[in-house]
Amino acid sequence: MTDIATLQTETLAAVTGADSLDALEAVRVAALGKQGNISALLKTLGQMSPEERQVQGPIINGLRESLTTAIAEKKAALESAALNARLATERLDMTLPAPEAPRGSVHPVSQVMDELAEIFADMGFAVAEGPEIEDDWTNFSALNIPETHPARAMHDTFYFPDTDAQGRAMLLRTHTSPVQIRTMTTQKPPIRIIAPGRVYRSDSDATHTPMFHQIEGLVIDKGIHMGHLKWTLETFLKAFFERDDVTIRMRPSYFPFTEPSAEIDIGYTMQNGKRVVGGSDHWMEVLGSGMVHRRVIENCGLDPDEYQGFAFGTGVDRLAMLKYGMDDLRAFFDGDLRWLKHYGFAALDVPTLSGGVGA
Ligand code: DAH
Repeated sequence: MTDIATLQTETLAAVTGADSLDALEAVRVAALGKQGNISALLKTLGQMSPEERQVQGPIINGLRESLTTAIAEKKAALESAALNARLATERLDMTLPAPEAPRGSVHPVSQVMDELAEIFADMGFAVAEGPEIEDDWTNFSALNIPETHPARAMHDTFYFPDTDAQGRAMLLRTHTSPVQIRTMTTQKPPIRIIAPGRVYRSDSDATHTPMFHQIEGLVIDKGIHMGHLKWTLETFLKAFFERDDVTIRMRPSYFPFTEPSAEIDIGYTMQNGKRVVGGSDHWMEVLGSGMVHRRVIENCGLDPDEYQGFAFGTGVDRLAMLKYGMDDLRAFFDGDLRWLKHYGFAALDVPTLSGGVGA
């Protein structure tokens, strides 16, 4: 009896005193393990007389149970203490400034594309995409630029040596206008899309690179007229340049896929040798546009007597140069870190209309 009482007191004291999970495990093994002293006591029950066993059995088993419970409780306490200690050391103070300034920046082209998507989304335009490897029907013919048309030669097209399965010549798209065709042949009007993306022409000097960026706009619905076109472009340019005094001039022009066609000039003044948008001292061309040619609508399987629309297109790189003041287009694609650092945008400066799209 005394032995058992002592054993219980000592073992419980050892459980309480265990200061780590390893120490506790050692106590458990010494008492309840195969060779443990409590296990040894349990084994003695077999040699006892039934009367003796009736007395000793509950005592020894009770001892084992109370120890098992005490060990489990201590284990839980030690584990939660260990977890708390880990949480305390691994805590991050989110109020501290980041240890290093972030290095990357958003390229002005990406920034301007985000700005354009934000502005046009607000006017109900979805963003559409098309492939950069295009066939000549979608890039030219469907847009009312037949094979003999001088515009084909003007585009300085990069052709692939092979045709596609339908025998169409394959090329790197020379403009984003083929996305008009892809949209009209797969979607039902009303259509309101913009299509930003890369385009390619075999051309290279201070204002031309073989790859550059355009954005296309297309609206197809019933009863669309040039008033809608003018309002849309005026609203867009005011939002993009972030000024209400933007003046535009529509100049008659020619594009095979629009009739009538208009080039959009934006007014600017010279201030300290810099172009500042607004006013009407000088004009520069910023967009091509027009009412979608009925033949283009027909080529896409729509009835031009039922549906009309307008389209516009412009260079994204040029818009970026105008807004942010770069003067050499080639630097856009040199990957010069100094240029990117100077003209790039912070990654978290997401353009929003409410915050001002200009970042
Ligand atoms: N695709 C023309 C180009 O690459 C730009 C353009 C002009 C697009 C007039 C249009 C448009 O949608 O209506 O030069």
